Amino acid sequence: MNTVLPLLESPTRPFVLPDSAREGLATTPFGLYVHVPFCATRCGYCDFNTYTSDELGPGANRAEYAGTAIAELRRAADALGPDLPTVSTVFVGGGTPTLLPADDLAAVLAEIRELFPVAGDVEVTTEANPETVTPQSLARLREAGFTRVSLGMQSAAEHVLAVLDRRHTPGRAVEAAHEARAAGFEHVNLDLIYGTPGESDEDWAASLDAVLASPVDHVSAYALIVEDGTRLARRISRGELPMTDDDVLADRYVQADATLQKAGFHWYEVSNWATGDAARCRHNELYWANANWWGVGPGAHSHVGGLRWWNVRHPAAYADRLAAGLSPAQDAELLSEADRALETIMLGLRLRDGLPLDALSAIGRERARGAVADGLLEPEAHAAGRAVLTDRGRLLADAVIRDLTD
Ligand SMILES: C[S@@+](CC[C@H](N)C(=O)[O-])C[C@H]1O[C@@H](n2cnc3c(N)ncnc32)[C@H](O)[C@@H]1O
Ligand code: SF4
Repeated sequence: MNTVLPLLESPTRPFVLPDSAREGLATTPFGLYVHVPFCATRCGYCDFNTYTSDELGPGANRAEYAGTAIAELRRAADALGPDLPTVSTVFVGGGTPTLLPADDLAAVLAEIRELFPVAGDVEVTTEANPETVTPQSLARLREAGFTRVSLGMQSAAEHVLAVLDRRHTPGRAVEAAHEARAAGFEHVNLDLIYGTPGESDEDWAASLDAVLASPVDHVSAYALIVEDGTRLARRISRGELPMTDDDVLADRYVQADATLQKAGFHWYEVSNWATGDAARCRHNELYWANANWWGVGPGAHSHVGGLRWWNVRHPAAYADRLAAGLSPAQDAELLSEADRALETIMLGLRLRDGLPLDALSAIGRERARGAVADGLLEPEAHAAGRAVLTDRGRLLADAVIRDLTD
């Protein structure tokens, strides 16, 4: 289904968007993602597009990277214009964005403001590793217009952090959350991972307690995914570490949800809890609503009006393409109406608000009745015309989604 599109086709028209993708630009929420592909070391479980070397080539080294990302932002503004969509969210992710000087991240944001109309209430998030921020760098980011910090904590247990190859101490993430609040960030998130080999129920309870004792308004908790090709996967296959079983993962999720709900954090997506609507991550909501976003950086994915494309993965290839005035897109696909409808269902079903039953096919609606009978979808919401997962449904979210979309 891959389609060669003008975006990729011609070196002389390197960033052209087809007219079909432009429809709805003005009315669909629009976000920018900026990928920063650097980490000090690679965590054993992680297969994100990130590099530990600082010798990646001209334009791709850390010191030059902000300038290269800005070059793509300029192309993006050219391609999307002349009637540019208003930026409602910016998300700088990685990798470790905070390995770049705060001034570089500030320069990227300043350029976005130069190039695009930006909403008055724009949400601007940066991901950050706890050991890479200081009170000074956080103050600089806040002053530059960042509104939200998302810190990778993963666990409060030292031996769990060791299995994950994290570089920070158990207390550092919570300390960094305090520093972010002191720097004026109203919105602070901590990411947790559960199900790490060797993690006990008590370790997980202690991680949740540590998060709740910190000044955050948002928590993301992800089951550890053992990605092929990672050091963690090799250690498990050699028998050095045990594989966590699905029942333990389900127990951990139930424990997290109960603890977080009791403390006033409400789930709004299967893996995300917030203290209220204002604390939700609007950038992720934009993804889940299948809205429009441009992803800047090596390996970054974009979606505009049913056209999806992704950039070349290596930072050197990415920088070379931009230096030559070419699109860094490696490939693209034009989603059919049916593909888009399916994606909307798959993303929407994971949300607290669920989705209207009439978004489902006739067979899907029939199966939704069965899912209500099985205790997987909420009966009241179903009677009101929506498909919303029950607590048990959330544990089996992937299976429910498969069943309703088959
Ligand atoms: C890719 S990291 C980027 C931010 C930052 N470098 C960090 O580590 O916090 C974003 C989040 O993805 C999650 N993550 C990455 N790999 C994962 C995996 N294999 N299983 C579960 N969660 C994962 C972690 O919770 C991490 O905080
Ligand atoms: S610091 Fe974050 S992005 Fe980097 S390797 Fe670890 S989990 Fe992946």
